[in-house]
Amino acid sequence: MDLLQGKQGLVFGVANERSYAWHISKSLIDHGADCAFGVLPGDKMRARARLAIENLKLREEWVHPCDCSNDEDLFRIFDAYARDHDRLDFLIHSIAYADKSWLQPGAFPGTPRNVFMQAMDISVYSLVTMAERARPMMKESGGGSILSMSYLGAERAIPGYNVMGVAKAALEASTRYLANDMGEDNIRVNSISGGPLKTLAAAAIKGFKSLLSHDARRSPLARNVTGSDVGGTAVYLVSDLGAGVTGETIHVDCGASMVGF
Ligand SMILES: NC(=O)c1ccc[n+]([C@@H]2O[C@H](COP(=O)([O-])OP(=O)(O)OC[C@H]3O[C@@H](n4cnc5c(N)ncnc54)[C@H](O)[C@@H]3O)[C@@H](O)[C@H]2O)c1
Repeated sequence: MDLLQGKQGLVFGVANERSYAWHISKSLIDHGADCAFGVLPGDKMRARARLAIENLKLREEWVHPCDCSNDEDLFRIFDAYARDHDRLDFLIHSIAYADKSWLQPGAFPGTPRNVFMQAMDISVYSLVTMAERARPMMKESGGGSILSMSYLGAERAIPGYNVMGVAKAALEASTRYLANDMGEDNIRVNSISGGPLKTLAAAAIKGFKSLLSHDARRSPLARNVTGSDVGGTAVYLVSDLGAGVTGETIHVDCGASMVGF
């Protein structure tokens, strides 16, 4: 299937082969897309991410360091991408961060100001500023698709998800505001609310294991979501099949979020 033949884009958030960003990239590549990558600097992180990207078996690898809380890094990566590519059809934002000491049941009211601001900066503001940097090249490419990753904690109080839930609510609202302002350039902005998946980021949430089993028990499909479930929805949203969809948050969680009890 070549739904994405000729489409090129930039993916942020591959830490290893468990990352949602890795599964999304795999699905996009399987459907014919070319992916370039922004990865968190630091020797250990970079080496792990590089290995995972190698396993995607790309014809050519394009990997640049980028700490999304740093404006210079962001300028540099979008400039470098524009130098080396002639189009930008999609941008995948699959990153989030909050100090794990505050991701414990009961800890939310005590969240310090700097922890709150850092979670909002890395997990939300980065989407807004990346979208603005992507805009000129996407416009030149005739439009584009921007996609971020959210979670049910944006809509419900999930014990231990705390400040990340607040950040995800802001991420979903930012998705709508970006979609509204960028539609005139045929740029679509959507978010996937993914079910729990065992990743590095998930390991920071106290009680994540019981969240996984609870979700599998209550979901109508009687299982946890897989990375390729989310990858498939990403393919749809990036491809022309999703041409009329913008400002949406789509749940890909085996139905767990819609059941009452
Ligand atoms: N795993 C889950 O259960 C789950 C469920 C729903 C949504 N999500 C969301 O999916 C996205 C990806 O998370 P994941 O679960 O794949 O975990 P992950 O740990 O594999 O990915 C998180 C990524 O964020 C990156 N990151 C953190 N701070 C950064 C910074 N300052 N600059 C650049 N990159 C930075 C990390 O390097 C990492 O690649 C996140 O937005 C997460 O909230 C995860």
